[in-house]
Amino acid sequence: MLRERFPIFQQKVYINSCSKGALSTDVRAAYEHYLQDWNDKGSPWDYWVGQLEATRSAFARLIHAEADEIAVKTSVSDAVNALASSLDLSARHKIVVDDFAFPTTGQIWHAQSSRGAEIVHVAEADNNTIPIEHYEAIIDDNTLLVSLTHVCYRNGARQDIKPIVDLAHSRGALVMLDSYQALGTFPIDVQALGVDFLVGGTLKYLLGSSGLAFLYVNETHISNLYPTATGWFAQADIFAMDIHQYDPSLTARRFESGTPPNPNLYAALAGLALLEEAGIDAIEAHLIEITGAIKQGAREKGYQIVTPDLHGAMIAIKSNDVEQLVGCLAEDNIIVSSRDGNLRISAHLYNEHADIDALIDGLAKNSHLLV
Ligand SMILES: Cc1ncc(COP(=O)(O)O)c(C=O)c1O
Repeated sequence: MLRERFPIFQQKVYINSCSKGALSTDVRAAYEHYLQDWNDKGSPWDYWVGQLEATRSAFARLIHAEADEIAVKTSVSDAVNALASSLDLSARHKIVVDDFAFPTTGQIWHAQSSRGAEIVHVAEADNNTIPIEHYEAIIDDNTLLVSLTHVCYRNGARQDIKPIVDLAHSRGALVMLDSYQALGTFPIDVQALGVDFLVGGTLKYLLGSSGLAFLYVNETHISNLYPTATGWFAQADIFAMDIHQYDPSLTARRFESGTPPNPNLYAALAGLALLEEAGIDAIEAHLIEITGAIKQGAREKGYQIVTPDLHGAMIAIKSNDVEQLVGCLAEDNIIVSSRDGNLRISAHLYNEHADIDALIDGLAKNSHLLV
């Protein structure tokens, strides 16, 4: 049973993977392994570069990309900044950002206005979805890039990406997809989606730690883009040690910068191995069942579900005092989180129906905090 490898369940009902994946014995052992290697080998740089390459390949497998299309980064912010620094804003200068965006992506795109970018937002409708017509009205032949969010961190809404990508491409715009809240919960295939760029990180449903993320760059774009946010690990020959030129790698490694975060590579590999062991298709099926149980339980009690029909692993429920509700549930050892006045309940492969029963009981106990 995979659940037994997550000791937190001996004490808590943990349903907060949209914030942070639970710690497994595998990831704890991976950190021990890092310390052991450091202790025993001193400075095994070749081995650590090997871990970097293994992580790159694992990210590539996760999204059906080639390893050469992956840059290993330390956060999604770091990944989006590297991409933004490579964009030429002289011909087209409009960046379209959906209103499901996590703050960091919106903030990074707005920071590009000092380089001449015009940032235009795509608003959500009253039912917590963003209809394709909203994109149709905004993406035009001055649009350089559309920044899309796969699953919204506030309400769990999932977007149907392919039609938006087709629309953007038909108007000559590129697409960057932030899949942080989606990765590890359902299959993602960058070939099928047709996105130009994709970003994500390991600390949530990928079951790793903070301090590790990645940027996918479709191979057709790599040689045309020159990131100015760069460093020695982005060079064609990392160990050229040449301070007289910038000679970027021919692969997506050109979007990297400095020394990789070695401990986090160990953790990422252990987390990703757990997902591969469970199988993404099986995780998706399990989450459809568990999120279905959450919605049914909430509906039976008459609580207001904010999450639209197309959603990811997180279900959001309206509260009239969500911080108090999160605190009351925590007192009963039920760990969930809040954003935007909503209670966020985010299950993963380790959650079972008993967790949902405990949650629904906890909500009933605090029904005065629900609307
Ligand atoms: C959709 C999404 N994008 C980005 C981030 C944050 O990215 P980072 O802190 O790695 O820059 C989060 C974190 O919650 C997120 O949910």
